[in-house]
Amino acid sequence: MTHLLGGRVRPGDRGEYGLATLDLDDTSDPMFAGLAGSQQIWMNHRDVVEAPPDGFRVIGRTDTCAVAAIADSARHLYGVQFHPEVVHTIRGQEYLANFIFRVCRCQKDWDPRHRLPLIEAEIRESVGDRRVFFFVSGGVDSSVAFALCRRALGGDRVRGIYVDTGLMREGETDFVRGLGGLAIEDASSQFLGALSGVTEPEQKRHIIGEEFVRVQERIIESRSLADECWILGQGTIYPDTIESGGTAKAAVIKTHHNRVAGIQKLIAAGRIVEPLKSFYKDEVRAVGRELGLPGDLLDRHPFPGPGLAIRCLCAASDARLERIADGWIIPVRSVGVQGDARTYAPVLAIDAMDHAHATVLTNRLRKVNRVVALVEAHAQLHDMSIRASALSPGRLQRLRHADATVRRISHASGYDRQVWQFPVILIPLGSSDAPDSIVLRPIDSVDGMTAQSVGMDAEILRSMCAELLSVPGIAGVFYDLTHKPPGTIEWE
Ligand code: XMP
Repeated sequence: MTHLLGGRVRPGDRGEYGLATLDLDDTSDPMFAGLAGSQQIWMNHRDVVEAPPDGFRVIGRTDTCAVAAIADSARHLYGVQFHPEVVHTIRGQEYLANFIFRVCRCQKDWDPRHRLPLIEAEIRESVGDRRVFFFVSGGVDSSVAFALCRRALGGDRVRGIYVDTGLMREGETDFVRGLGGLAIEDASSQFLGALSGVTEPEQKRHIIGEEFVRVQERIIESRSLADECWILGQGTIYPDTIESGGTAKAAVIKTHHNRVAGIQKLIAAGRIVEPLKSFYKDEVRAVGRELGLPGDLLDRHPFPGPGLAIRCLCAASDARLERIADGWIIPVRSVGVQGDARTYAPVLAIDAMDHAHATVLTNRLRKVNRVVALVEAHAQLHDMSIRASALSPGRLQRLRHADATVRRISHASGYDRQVWQFPVILIPLGSSDAPDSIVLRPIDSVDGMTAQSVGMDAEILRSMCAELLSVPGIAGVFYDLTHKPPGTIEWE
């Protein structure tokens, strides 16, 4: 808006990613009613407004950003540099409510209690007299979407199939079997074969997406689902759509299988139903509760479709760590989201479990998008290096074992109920007898769009570390201190 209306925008000297404090001037403008003072907000930018356009007043600022909120009350034009829509902007909902109800003068006419019948009516409308088959992952989204369709269309018009990719966590296939009403297809050798020797993160995601489509096509054929009377049901949720570039301006932040070419063809042919595509995760859980689905299914942490593959980092060749004044640069490629772009960058390892310092470092250092703390290791960091490695069954098993260990301790201590998600990542950092390390990434979030790295009770961390360091092949344990932005929740 600044650019188009004749103001000046330029790249900032520093980035401002994640938590920030906004100072908002006292104002009588309806847009900022009740909001003056100091507030926690969430930033995600490097560009700055140098001079607002004529007619605008600067209303708010942070330490890094001199123009964080502008207003032209006469024309009802408002701009904020921060993100009012994310939960970490504590009073974000009030900004949005002020804009909608006080500035635009909209009326409230939506009652969430009417949600289920509406979704069911939409499903019936888009499915018509056809039948729906689902590839159910055992996660919240696909299970809720499956249950919704069964309720809307009746059980005999909806079929569910679970594909065992060989990239699932320990005990997952048994858990899914327990859900009932599903057929199980073992495609593990197909996935692991296609991924063997591949180290490039985006290529891994692409292969997994393509293999999913191949498996789907094979199942469709072998179970006679090719007939026009069947369509595909999916548990795609709103962040998947936004982060895959589904909205007009979003960059391709998440490139996963919900939107690969094979699926696009089905969408183009109108042979797909995605009843949750405009819902966030918390809303999906609420819908699931309304449907009466069990708590241990609905309260599961999210788990990504490509599975452990995107938590098992690989390296094409050996590489040494680089010592800099702030710590050690680990030359793996981990994904981040800074501004609207998806970036792959190395990771900085520091000694202290200091979240605030980690934020300062990712804002200052352009070449890293993530900061981890070394918790404990069998060797000194300068004796460890990145080891050429791929997605071998042995490494996947190592990660599966570590992940099951972390989940067991986290569940027994109640820690899993305090965090939104807790990825466990394997990185090829170690020595010849213990070639890998583990990164713990517990985060708090509401919808996965933004996230806050959270701390952990020292005693729980100690017991996790002790068990993880006794897993054969594990050299060290690290703790991811990075918020999203600048680091995504997953590492690839
Ligand atoms: P990121 O890593 O993008 O993750 O911050 C946000 C949320 O999305 C999950 N995620 C995925 N889920 N397929 C999925 O079904 C994917 O390719 C994928 N990538 C990330 C992630 O676990 C987190 O909950």
